[in-house]
Amino acid sequence: MLLVGPEDDFNIKIARGLGLKLVPLERRIFPDGEICPRVREEVRGSDVVLSLRMKSGVGRPNDYLLEVLFTLRNLKRHMGAGDIVLIMPYFPYARQDAIFRIGEPLSPSYLAEMLEDAGASSIVSVTVHLHRLGSFSEIFKKIKATNLSGFKALSESIKRLPLQDPFIIGPDTESIHWARELAQFCGIGEYDAFRKERDIETGDIRTYIKEIDLKNRDVIVVDDMVSTGGTMANAVAAAKEMGARLVISAFVHPILVPGSVEKILGAGADIIIATDTIEWGGSKASVTGDIIDTLRGG
Ligand code: R5P
Repeated sequence: MLLVGPEDDFNIKIARGLGLKLVPLERRIFPDGEICPRVREEVRGSDVVLSLRMKSGVGRPNDYLLEVLFTLRNLKRHMGAGDIVLIMPYFPYARQDAIFRIGEPLSPSYLAEMLEDAGASSIVSVTVHLHRLGSFSEIFKKIKATNLSGFKALSESIKRLPLQDPFIIGPDTESIHWARELAQFCGIGEYDAFRKERDIETGDIRTYIKEIDLKNRDVIVVDDMVSTGGTMANAVAAAKEMGARLVISAFVHPILVPGSVEKILGAGADIIIATDTIEWGGSKASVTGDIIDTLRGG
């Protein structure tokens, strides 16, 4: 078996952990934005682990998905690969896990079909945002799909901080699951979630606080992902206003469109902790260990 992917720390760690040779994937982009991912060595006859991460910032999901689809198809159709285990640490389009307004797509299901058709034999992802569509394994009809928790990796970084009287809070009702998960991994007893309303047309966010005493406590605001930073920044500001001593902004997927980090810091966050499911220079936690353990376990 070989590992195909960009030659970065993330993939070097996974290749080492699994004892696999890393076959570099070159991510070529033409001046007009077209992509041309190139597998740099022969893989004929070998099973492959294809490990590709999205880059943080604007407009990346589409480039990323096409890169994954082209590489899968190429490995299967032209390069003679055997089975392909696809590592896609962040699964884009998962928030569109329902047809919210007539005429919208059920994006994650369509994407699952496209990945199956392109040649993936199984897929491993991390903290996939599917609240309304059942589980990650249910959206794939033909292949095995594994959804790892990114909160374990976050908890390992958080546990290294000398926190006083910690409290975990999610920014919206849905995030109570993430708050609970992180609390369990951290061994922190108290957690809750604010309530948020987002205008479905404009995207504007309003956060409603709760009667929780956060005075002089170290508060971890947790979410699965941060994109514009609006949801996180509102919750961080609320925690500060409620008297928190230290506010840690913790999330699994750093999508982080430009300006989002500044927004969160500007709202009063003292520390930002995110994992490396997406390529971003500021990640302080790594999901590579959990991916290696999962692939080792078969
Ligand atoms: C929403 O359901 C997600 O869990 C995140 O809270 C949301 O996607 C964050 O988006 P933004 O950073 O743009 O507020």
